[in-house]
Amino acid sequence: MNKRIAVIPGDGIGPEVTAQAVKVLNAVGKRFDHTFEYEYCLMGACAIDQTGDPLPDATIEAALRSDAVLFGAIGDPKYDNDPGAKVRPEQGLLRLRKTLQLYANIRPISTYAALEHLSPLNPDRLKGVDFVIYRELTGGIYFGEKKTDGTRASDDCVYTREEIERIAHPAFQQARRRRKKLTLVDKANVLETSRLWRKVVQEVATQYPDVAVDFLFVDNAAMQIIVNPAQFDVMLTENMFGDILSDEASVISGSLGMLPSASIGKGAALFEPIHGSYPQAAGKDIANPMGAILSAAMLLDHLDLPREAKTVREAVDWAVQQKIVTRDIDPDSTHYTSTVGDMIADAVQYEITFGARLQNILMSHSTII
Ligand code: IPM
Ligand code: MN
Repeated sequence: MNKRIAVIPGDGIGPEVTAQAVKVLNAVGKRFDHTFEYEYCLMGACAIDQTGDPLPDATIEAALRSDAVLFGAIGDPKYDNDPGAKVRPEQGLLRLRKTLQLYANIRPISTYAALEHLSPLNPDRLKGVDFVIYRELTGGIYFGEKKTDGTRASDDCVYTREEIERIAHPAFQQARRRRKKLTLVDKANVLETSRLWRKVVQEVATQYPDVAVDFLFVDNAAMQIIVNPAQFDVMLTENMFGDILSDEASVISGSLGMLPSASIGKGAALFEPIHGSYPQAAGKDIANPMGAILSAAMLLDHLDLPREAKTVREAVDWAVQQKIVTRDIDPDSTHYTSTVGDMIADAVQYEITFGARLQNILMSHSTII
């Protein structure tokens, strides 16, 4: 199979982690006989520096003619503390989401036994934690009208029935493939938009009678994610609540650096780790590439290559178990972003899979050395 992938490395650690994801995709290509053609494009602070525009037209065009977009990270501290900046890196990502109509952002939250000690939660709360957040991504307060006269500012939050329905259906379908539970998170006791979400989701739910639905106010949901995260299966929510809750939920797994995401919609889909640009680590080869590599696995699933995606996930599991990790995961590790990427790519390409045989290979290596 031959696929075109638009690669947007972005800012900060984006280029380093994206390079590891590309390595792993190339390993998948060799092992399973696929060709991935990459087209590299600019977005974010690096694009502003080079072109003045956080999302140059060339990037939109490349994304539109691609089968999928692989994205690294966005943001630069020089804009964060300058509320007056007219052009901001994040505008690039928001405009790309809108242009490609990527209305559903999917963020799976899973735990790794080997990383339990890094989680801020007690191990007994981590048992059975496995849920996925469906965050609406192209509506709500992010995209409503923005006004300011310098002393008064407003951001409109608008949702339409159609915007809610089009993400509710894939979320229910996902729940059907999983443990058949969907939780809508809203603030229906206060917000009109949330009352519309509740009404529409209740209607959509009648088409999925096998899925149990419950409703949580967002403040309660923020608490439940800490107190009892194992209760969730599919969590559906609007744009800003999803932004906040997915960062909160991400630390459950022990590290923000482990988590991938997919944004799907009408145009090509986009895959990115959920972490930010981590500027303090940029260029040091120390950032955790696993979120990016697991995003490549989601990309493979999206291209209807589930066997290939599974192989990548198994290679990541193996690396975590073998402590082939960066120092955010294990402070004693001697591995770097690039070496973790190399070893996961090798594990994928050379079928060094996973279990007793591999243990033997590693043990015999260590005895020889
Ligand atoms: C995310 C990010 C973005 C968002 C920023 C960079 C605009 O935090 O993808 O979650 O708020 O959506
Ligand atoms: Mn966010």
